[in-house]
Amino acid sequence: MKKITLLLAVCFSIISFGQGNMHTQQAGKFEGLAMTPPMGWNSWNTFATNIDEKLVKETAHIMVSSGLATAGYNYIVLDDGWMTHNRDANGDLVPDPVKFPNGMKSLIDYVHSKGLKFGLYNCAGTKTCAGYPGTRGYEYQDARFYAKLGIDFLKYDWCNTEGITAKEAYTTMSNALKTAGKPIVFSLCEWGDNQPWEWGKPVGNLWRISGDIYPCFDCEFKHPENWSSWGFMKIVDMRKDIRKYSGPDHWNDFDMMEVGNEMNDTEDKSHFAMWCMMASPLFTGNDYRKMSKETLAILTNKEMLAVNQDKLGVQGFKYAVVDGVEVWVKPLSEGAWAVSFLNRTDSLKKITFDWKKNVFKDADFGYEAVFNTTVFKIKDLWKNKETGNTKKVFTAAIDSHDVVTLKLIP
Ligand code: GLA
Repeated sequence: MKKITLLLAVCFSIISFGQGNMHTQQAGKFEGLAMTPPMGWNSWNTFATNIDEKLVKETAHIMVSSGLATAGYNYIVLDDGWMTHNRDANGDLVPDPVKFPNGMKSLIDYVHSKGLKFGLYNCAGTKTCAGYPGTRGYEYQDARFYAKLGIDFLKYDWCNTEGITAKEAYTTMSNALKTAGKPIVFSLCEWGDNQPWEWGKPVGNLWRISGDIYPCFDCEFKHPENWSSWGFMKIVDMRKDIRKYSGPDHWNDFDMMEVGNEMNDTEDKSHFAMWCMMASPLFTGNDYRKMSKETLAILTNKEMLAVNQDKLGVQGFKYAVVDGVEVWVKPLSEGAWAVSFLNRTDSLKKITFDWKKNVFKDADFGYEAVFNTTVFKIKDLWKNKETGNTKKVFTAAIDSHDVVTLKLIP
């Protein structure tokens, strides 16, 4: 028995040492790295694995020159497809030398020199979703690799994970990152299959709550391999009951945005409004080099971004549906509220909303707006205009799939 114990101890030390775990083991995520929903760009929605150095440099350049960076977008995240298909002789991941001819480190240094941050992607399984080397069994080694590169963000996916427990796999990687010592935002991409909101708070800074987004209002796109991607309102509908789990440094992630991709400007505007109302991380997923001025205006709308980035960090909720128009509300700091009237129907709707007959009650966080005792000033956030107060009945004509967002200020 003693011999077996000794043998196990030796094996364990070898494995730990093999993974280079010579530092004291640390546990728990890096705290405080995402006190407001993180904002940036991710390559996947538009480029899939067709990514390279030129794309990253051009994206970084436009992020700064267009005003996106000033608006708050500062992470450039390379999703799946940045590696070669094999690890090197030491077991390290290898950035694709054709896509990144000057190496990953110099590209990251370049992105940092623009005042931006940089993120990479991998998977908890044996392979990534696109078939590149996954991290399973290499957690500490990969964490050190990322720390050495100096990345600021890691998206960690969930393909090819047969036989692994999500909570354990994500906890192992979180501990590995902590042990490697470089503060890195840890983004769990487990699609909500194993309720990451219930166990993810000490593990990561954000977690996906759904399968992949699809650039449509509320369609379901069925892939031939028997999985679905979801229109943005489908994602919003899907997880309406988990808002209490989201907050500063532990966000429900509604997925990278499709603004500027295949929808029209009206739907893009509603999509963006909902991501702001939900306090979702805001990762743009479009090609900046082809961005229209309308898309840029949506993404950099200051008033809407302030709703998303509000320091209270409370995810909004659906308050009511009036004749097919959904009323979404979000408590903000200093007693203010954001209210979005979203026309879910296929025709124009004229709405009348008598504030004084309504009380907004946030059952999860305890906030309340009682309109017959408190008068709020109203600001239309898309028009950037003050429009009276809540003593008066509010009326608006809202196009199909369009949204009106107001800020109520006590
Ligand atoms: C999964 C993720 C996506 C993307 C791809 C990459 O589908 O949910 O966001 O990262 O993998 O292969």
